[in-house]
Amino acid sequence: TDDFFKSIVSHSKEYGFVFQSSEIYDGLSAVYDYGQLGSELKNNLKTYWWKSMVQLHENIVGIDAAIFMHPTTWKASGHVDGFNDPMIDNKDSKKRYRADQLIEDKIARYEADGKTDKAAALLEALNVALNADDLAGLKTIIEDHNIVCPVSGTKNWTDVRQFNLMFATQMGAMADGAEQVYLRPETAQGIFVNFLNVQKTGRMKIPFGIAQIGKAFRNEVIARQFIMRMREFEQMELQFFVRPGTEMEWYNKWKETRLKWHLALGFNPDNYRYHNHDKLAHYANAAVDIEFNFPFGFKEVEGIHSRTDFDLKQHQEFSGKKMQYFDTEINQNYIPYVVETSIGLDRLFLTVLCNSLVQEDLSTPEKQDSRVVLKFPPAIAPVKAAILPLTKKDGLPEKAREIMSVLKLDYNVQYDEKDSIGKRYRRQDAIGTPICITVDHQSLEDNMVTIRHRDSMQQERVAIADLEKFVADLVGW
Ligand code: GAP
Repeated sequence: TDDFFKSIVSHSKEYGFVFQSSEIYDGLSAVYDYGQLGSELKNNLKTYWWKSMVQLHENIVGIDAAIFMHPTTWKASGHVDGFNDPMIDNKDSKKRYRADQLIEDKIARYEADGKTDKAAALLEALNVALNADDLAGLKTIIEDHNIVCPVSGTKNWTDVRQFNLMFATQMGAMADGAEQVYLRPETAQGIFVNFLNVQKTGRMKIPFGIAQIGKAFRNEVIARQFIMRMREFEQMELQFFVRPGTEMEWYNKWKETRLKWHLALGFNPDNYRYHNHDKLAHYANAAVDIEFNFPFGFKEVEGIHSRTDFDLKQHQEFSGKKMQYFDTEINQNYIPYVVETSIGLDRLFLTVLCNSLVQEDLSTPEKQDSRVVLKFPPAIAPVKAAILPLTKKDGLPEKAREIMSVLKLDYNVQYDEKDSIGKRYRRQDAIGTPICITVDHQSLEDNMVTIRHRDSMQQERVAIADLEKFVADLVGW
C-alpha cells in the first residue's frame, strides 16, 4: 500500500494532475498546484457537488464569499481562542510535534504489538486530557509512556503549548493602524455572516441551505500525505438552516444523503464508512465523519456537524445585529439551528485517484505486457475523448479535426496524431480518457469511426453523425 501511494503521487506529477508548489525553488511544504489535467478533474468534482447540492435542491442556493473577513468574525466563531493544536518541541532535534499525534502514534504501536489493553487505556487518557484542554496532562502522558522524538530518539521535551492554526496578515497601511486579518480557516463563516442577506433577498423559507465552494487556509504543523493535509486547500460546504428541535432529523438525513453521494460515483462501497466523533468541536452537538480507506488507512474526507445555533448566536452577540428568522408557520421568531456538511475537495480528489489508478497485466503466453489506467467515472474524467487519425496523411487529420471542432464546443477533448495508435491508446488510458475515436481510411468512405473503450479495450464502429449523442450518453451525469 506504501508503494501504491507512491505510485499515485508520481503518476499525478508525471501526467500533469498535481505538482508541488514552487517546485523550482524546492517547493513549499504542504502546498500544491493542480496541473492541466488536475484542474479539469477538480472542476468536474466541483460541478458534481454543485449540481447535486444546489441545482437539484430547490431550497439550497450557492454563494461565493470573500476569503478575507472582518477580524471580529473569528472572535465570534471561536477560532481566535479555540482553533488550536497542542504542540510540543523536542529540545535535542528542535523538531515540533502535535502532542496528540505523538500519543496516537504510540497507541498505534501498542496495537501493532498486540497490547490492546494498553492501547485502550492510553486512548482513554488522551481523550480525557483533550476534552479538558489539559496541556500538562498531555505532557505527563508523553513522559509516562516513554514517548521519544522520532528524529533524536530522546525524551527531552518542552511543555505542551497551544498553537493557533489561522494565518494572519495585515490589511491596509503597513504602519500603525494596520488591521490584523486572517485567511479564513473554513468557508462556513462567510455563509453565516450572509445568512440574513441571502434569506431576505432570496425569500428563503426554513428549512433551507446555503452552499459554497472555496479556499481555506490552516497553518497545519504536521503536513503530510500529499494533498491529504495541506496549508491551502479547498472546501465544499453546506450550511442547512432548520427549526430548533428538528436538527437531529436533518443531521441524520444529511448524513445518509452525503454517503450516498460518495457511493454514486460508483466505487467500491467497502472503502467508505462513518466515524462518529467522541470529541466534539466547540460548535457542535453531534458530528460524524465519512471516512475513506486510503492506502494509509481509513481517514476523514467529509464531516457532518450539527452546529446548533452557536454560530448565528455568536454573530448576533458580537455584531449587535439580530440573526433571527420569523417562522410564519408557527408564528415565532428564532435563531435557526444549523446542520453542516463539509467536504475537502482535495481529499475527494485523492479518493478518486486511489479508486481509479490501476496497473493491469495484459500478458499473453507470447508476450509480457501491462498498462496503467485511470478508471475515472466518465462524468468526472478530465478528457472525455481523444480523436486520433490513424495516419498523418491521406486526409485523415483533416477528417479528425472536423470531428474535433464539433465535440470541443461541449467537451474537453484531445487531438493526437503522434506515435503509433497503440502508444496513443496507452497515453489516454494513463490520463483516464473514457474513449478514443479513431479515424481511418474507411472513415473517408463510410463516415464511420472506431470507438475504443478505455476499460474493456473493446472497439465498435459508430457513425460520425451519431458521435455527439454517443459522447453525451457516455459522459452525462
Ligand atoms: N466548517 C467545518 C470544518 O471546516 P473540518 O472537519 O475542520 O470542518 C472539513 O474540515 C473538511 O475539510 C475535512 O473533512 C477535510 O476533508 C477538509 N480539510 C480540513 N483540513 C484540511 C487540510 N489541512 N488539508 C486538506 N483538507 C482539509
